[in-house]
Amino acid sequence: KNDAQSHTQCVGPDYQSEKQKPTATVSTEVPYDNVHILPQTPQLISLLTMIRDKNTQRADFIFYSNRIIRLLVEEGLNHLPVVEHSVSTPVGRTYAGVMFQGKICGVSIMRAGEAMEQGLRDCCRSVRIGKILIQRDEETSKPKLFYDKLPEDIAERWVLLLDPMFATGGSATMAVDVLKSRGVPEDRILFLNLIASPEGIHNFAKRFPRLRVVTAFIDEGLDEKNYIVPGLGDFGDRFYTL
Ligand code: PRP
Ligand code: URA
Repeated sequence: KNDAQSHTQCVGPDYQSEKQKPTATVSTEVPYDNVHILPQTPQLISLLTMIRDKNTQRADFIFYSNRIIRLLVEEGLNHLPVVEHSVSTPVGRTYAGVMFQGKICGVSIMRAGEAMEQGLRDCCRSVRIGKILIQRDEETSKPKLFYDKLPEDIAERWVLLLDPMFATGGSATMAVDVLKSRGVPEDRILFLNLIASPEGIHNFAKRFPRLRVVTAFIDEGLDEKNYIVPGLGDFGDRFYTL
């Protein structure tokens, strides 16, 4: 069953018949090859349900957000180039495998993007991490750039840009402009994101057609304060201070 209007779909494990499966709101789909939405599995939907719930307390919000972040990082790594790499196994046989090629770094958009750094470190030991401090003006929703500190050789690296919330897209667009001004080619940037708005994604995908976005969910839209709806509120506040 697929209800295009509200994006509801049956979600449940394979052994449950379609009739037994509960319906849930799943991500909006978009027609861009450079936007990758995580598979809308029962697990992902249940994790998102936890962090969207306004009654979820901070410790649980952190725990369940971290689980989704891990899924995003693992999927993001699938977009890095690999080369052939054969190894000998302990039983004297050869396994024809692959290994990653190239250097990477993370770049977090502060403050909320810093919450995604640990998930990246858990998968990529001692990964270099740059920071860009961009804050959205609470009245106008326009982003303001305060600070950046990036690895010197960032132009030679693949960059995993980290920010959990993508609303108007202003902050992420500003961050990409900073990266491009330091010589990072667009097609070596991967933007990892938890929840996006459709309008943000449309503008971004058109402006940066060679940059890849990996997101867990594209929501319904934005409210009058440019908050994502149904969304989860202010990610930074819920992760760090509430
Ligand atoms: C939030 C969020 C993004 C931005 C998204 O950060 O983490 O960076 O807003 O909105 P946009 O797509 O409309 O630019 P915020 O500036 O509120 O700061 P914070 O990380 O300190 O919470
Ligand atoms: N920043 C957030 O943390 N949440 C939103 O919905 C929009 C911007």
